[in-house]
Amino acid sequence: MACSSLGFHIRFHDSCPHQRSPVRLRPAISFLSLAVGLCLLLSMTAIAQTASAQHSGINDPALDSRVEQILRQMTLEEKVGQLVQYSAGQPTGPGTGRSDYEDMIAHGQIGSLFNVVDPHQINAYQRIAMEKSRLHIPILFGLDVIHGFKTEFPIPLGLASTWDLEIVEKASRVAAMEASADGIRWTFSPMVDIARDARWGRMAEGAGEDPFLGSAMAAAYVRGYQGSRLDAPDSIAACAKHYVGYGAAEGGRDYNTTEITEHTLRQDYLPPFHAAVDAGVASVMSAFNALGGTPSSANPFTLKQVLRKEWGFRGLVVSDWNSIGELIPQGVAMNGEAAARKAFLAGVDMDMVSSLYHDNLQKIVSSGQVTTAELDEAVRHVLRLKLALGLFDHAYVDEAAAPKALYHPDSLELARTAAERSFVLLKNADGVTGKPLLPLSSGTQNIAVIGPLGEDSSYPNGAPAGSGPRTSLMAGIAKRAPQAHVSHFRGCGILDGSDQELAEAVAGGQKSDLVILALGESPEMSGEAGSRAHLGLPGRQEELLEAIAHSGKPLVLILFSGRPLTLPWAFEHVQAVIAAWLPGIEGGTALARILFGDVNPSGKLAVSWPRSVGQEPLYYNHLNTGRPPDDIDLTKPPTDLASRYVSRYIDEQNTPQFPFGYGGSYTTFSYGATTISTKRLSAVELNKNAAAAAAPAVMTAEAMVTNTGSHAANEVVQLYIRLQGTSVAQPVRALKGFQTIAIAPGETKQVKFELRPEALAMWNDHNEFAVEPAKLTVWVSPDSAHGSPAEAEIVP
Ligand code: NOJ
Repeated sequence: MACSSLGFHIRFHDSCPHQRSPVRLRPAISFLSLAVGLCLLLSMTAIAQTASAQHSGINDPALDSRVEQILRQMTLEEKVGQLVQYSAGQPTGPGTGRSDYEDMIAHGQIGSLFNVVDPHQINAYQRIAMEKSRLHIPILFGLDVIHGFKTEFPIPLGLASTWDLEIVEKASRVAAMEASADGIRWTFSPMVDIARDARWGRMAEGAGEDPFLGSAMAAAYVRGYQGSRLDAPDSIAACAKHYVGYGAAEGGRDYNTTEITEHTLRQDYLPPFHAAVDAGVASVMSAFNALGGTPSSANPFTLKQVLRKEWGFRGLVVSDWNSIGELIPQGVAMNGEAAARKAFLAGVDMDMVSSLYHDNLQKIVSSGQVTTAELDEAVRHVLRLKLALGLFDHAYVDEAAAPKALYHPDSLELARTAAERSFVLLKNADGVTGKPLLPLSSGTQNIAVIGPLGEDSSYPNGAPAGSGPRTSLMAGIAKRAPQAHVSHFRGCGILDGSDQELAEAVAGGQKSDLVILALGESPEMSGEAGSRAHLGLPGRQEELLEAIAHSGKPLVLILFSGRPLTLPWAFEHVQAVIAAWLPGIEGGTALARILFGDVNPSGKLAVSWPRSVGQEPLYYNHLNTGRPPDDIDLTKPPTDLASRYVSRYIDEQNTPQFPFGYGGSYTTFSYGATTISTKRLSAVELNKNAAAAAAPAVMTAEAMVTNTGSHAANEVVQLYIRLQGTSVAQPVRALKGFQTIAIAPGETKQVKFELRPEALAMWNDHNEFAVEPAKLTVWVSPDSAHGSPAEAEIVP
């Protein structure tokens, strides 16, 4: 089980002495920054395979001489060719309308192709590179393998809700095995953008709002994709994207501008990327967004200073789709040549589809605007990755073997387990029996499954319907409850609907003993370009929901979505609500097992669940204001000066509907007081210790957790801290550890965390990571809004 026993901090720290790539720091960065950079921020995950990935990955010095040997033979045209990438599968954008890829490959003008998924076609292109091009440099084939290749797992936001690093690593391993069997050796995943705004559709693709959880997840994905050896035929190169700040798009509108201070960038947005780099990620994708006016694909500070110099990244930087071409409308380049020059000099090695490197880079180098040495360095990154993947020696895919790697029974079982753990029980109030409505009794006779997502086996998977086994909610329930009469009424579509269909569904529900309502979004409503200004149920679904709820039948609402949805009415009136995200290929089976109690829900939210859109961006680890509405009842409008002139809305509460880290269970828990091993720490000592290769724990924090209900359960126990009195204000709470415990009814477990110096470090007013004198508050708690605090002091 992920992070069980002493969890996280211990294992994360154990890995530190063995790492990693050479790291050079800019002078302003302290020793503690080194420790933080190398250890905490990201490699906290530390399931042991990481170390071996380092040996065969992009950082392997043994690759260097082969890289140089190839580089020496290359012409200018061939060098530029390695930096050019096209989408050969879906000709829908700039650079993709070409039809002469064969010819270009033969002339060494293409380094990578993506969106080609047919192994026969992959081999055909590869044959041209290996047999017809002068230097026989293989093509690197990529694809967006986001939550599985053919065996679809829950979307990443769902996987993050498991808080289970082992599951995420295993799911990524399955994705790698399936994709590589098809000839794809590079995925544009994981997306490690911090997402604090549910309007932004790409929240679905990441691990949510928290840098600590996001960092742990980032490293788990990289370990899974890249395996123990990157050159193993079933490993694929990972790509941490979108570097950086993309999730802070203003107004939650995709591709929009971002404004992030260096402090917030360092503490919140960069850590998951740093974790991916520390885990050996082979590539990084530069983002679309402008960051403080500088587009991320033309930003030498983030790409060269932070990524290369401070973190020692030796892998490949690829642009996002035409993000080099987009420098023109973004206003920092007047033409394609200027855009290519800016992106290249900022540190973007490979041009995804804009064709601007192909069209301009030779000229830019010949005219001396970019030196040959600079060009060579970018080419090295491509060659090193191809060598690290073993592509020069094993360029072709075994076409006959490819289908055998797909949909293995073990993979399907993993997809089911991942889905089960990803569901978050948001509400489970009393049903007609006076007991919580869920789990359902196996004897339930007459079930109506209502809603546009009840019978659809493709939408809830988060991908268009394809081949392969898929289970709808209906099919899952029918299989799990063979004794029951299960009927289905669509009620309405996701976006449309008629009065008649609605009335039929209400009437169908009336005849049943229980209604299971399957509502939500289609996959296109989240993900890229899936920003929404309204976060309720689309179309006529809320109307359907209210009509069914008014009928008085016991009602379970299952929400399929790529983000939290604002449904205050439902949370008040519906007895049981489950957030199912887009649960993947085994979603229907997994949901049935949860509904009937074969599995007890254990998922916890990786994002704060808003009450209304106006609260966005909404995140638990915010700073305090000077006017916190601490003792004020925010459910009522302000009535006097004291209740008005505080940081609040006059028409909405500040708190989320459900806090980050929250998730219900069929059992109940009681958490004892948080106890800590010391009340006084020294900042000087902490900073000194943090520079040591393996800093010892400075404090333990623990609590007794009791299963007070009647169901065996898994519980994700969380560790939070707050620092006050520091040079730069710190969040009201910040996650610093988590572990999942298995706990039987009536059982009590002592759950213990170790805090190391780096967990107490912050990006301070001297632009360095350091521990400062502060008041320290610690919580061991079930989520970000509960738990009893323990207090200590960090003295100078
Ligand atoms: C654009 C998306 O932003 C990125 O995440 C994706 O990897 C590329 N398109 C390639 O499909």
